Amino acid sequence: MSQTVNSVTVIGSGTMGNGICHVFAQCGFEVHMMDINQSALEKALATIGKNMDRQVAKGTLTEEAKAAALGRITTHTDMATAVANADLVVEAATENIDLKLNIFRQLDQLCPEHCILSSNTSSISLTRIASVTKRPGKVIGMHFMNPVPVMRLVEIINGYSTEKEVTNTIFKLSEQLGKVPCVVNDYPGFISNRILMPLINEAVLALQEGVAGVSSIDTIMKLGMSHPMGPLQLADFIGLDTCYSIMNVLHMGFGNQKYAPATLLANMVQAGYLGVKSGEGFYKYTPGNKTLVVSERFAHTEQYASIM
Ligand code: CAA
Repeated sequence: MSQTVNSVTVIGSGTMGNGICHVFAQCGFEVHMMDINQSALEKALATIGKNMDRQVAKGTLTEEAKAAALGRITTHTDMATAVANADLVVEAATENIDLKLNIFRQLDQLCPEHCILSSNTSSISLTRIASVTKRPGKVIGMHFMNPVPVMRLVEIINGYSTEKEVTNTIFKLSEQLGKVPCVVNDYPGFISNRILMPLINEAVLALQEGVAGVSSIDTIMKLGMSHPMGPLQLADFIGLDTCYSIMNVLHMGFGNQKYAPATLLANMVQAGYLGVKSGEGFYKYTPGNKTLVVSERFAHTEQYASIM
């Protein structure tokens, strides 16, 4: 058994939120995009339009389909109106537990009774999120990957009380979006970040210890293991603050020293070197320039630079 989903509300219009709106709208759903900030909503709509233009240029989306998809998105700054008719909410706000708990308390009060409440959290316990609602059976994790229109995975996380019908609904829905769903249980980092973040952290530790330079570490993983990005570039892409906070969730959740975040990662976050979003992390980013340039801070590690 599964529920019918026609109307979807996405909370948060940042990178993940606008990507999630993009795929739902493209697949014919009525989408309500909610953000407390009107200018963030306008920026998100422009981003969705630009990303759809890439698909039009490639011939995977027609101009008419693009216009129809954009026409299915309504924006809101008020949560009550945004969720009034929602069959499903996907929360994609900032990765902060107090903020998310507060949003879920409000969603529980404002959403129709049948509405499924999902979160795109990359590490916060779904069981904890469900505990602040009166419908824990209808709370589930729907973890998309960045860039959402490109990445095929949806990691579905069952909280301790998630109802089977809710999991079935989200599984089928993910397939309707052209994604491949994988169901996991609610343990720190789920599967994706339990495995990805220690990989990234190990790369930072190797850099910190001087085992190899930035470009060598990334090139080894790109060419040797066919990863599309090396772990340090991927850390910059995800955001070093996000990587650091997920490592802390693993470290605290398992109580095992093997998950302790690298000191270099902690220092970079505290100094504001967050990767792409701040303009510099392991690499330096200049708008309009796609060439990878190792940050000056790590120039001393680049004696035998081997960037692809
Ligand atoms: N919307 C639509 N299309 C997009 C897009 C977007 N936002 N971003 C990129 N694309 C398309 C491009 O148009 C291009 O299409 P074609 O190949 O058909 O021409 C394709 O994606 C590749 O893009 P680019 O040519 O610009 O760049 P690339 O070949 O270097 O690929 C990448 C970019 C897809 C990001 C690739 O480097 C990659 O897969 N990197 C790894 C991404 C990853 O691991 N993501 C998961 C991060 S973890 C996470 O999200 C969750 C978490 O919990 C932390």
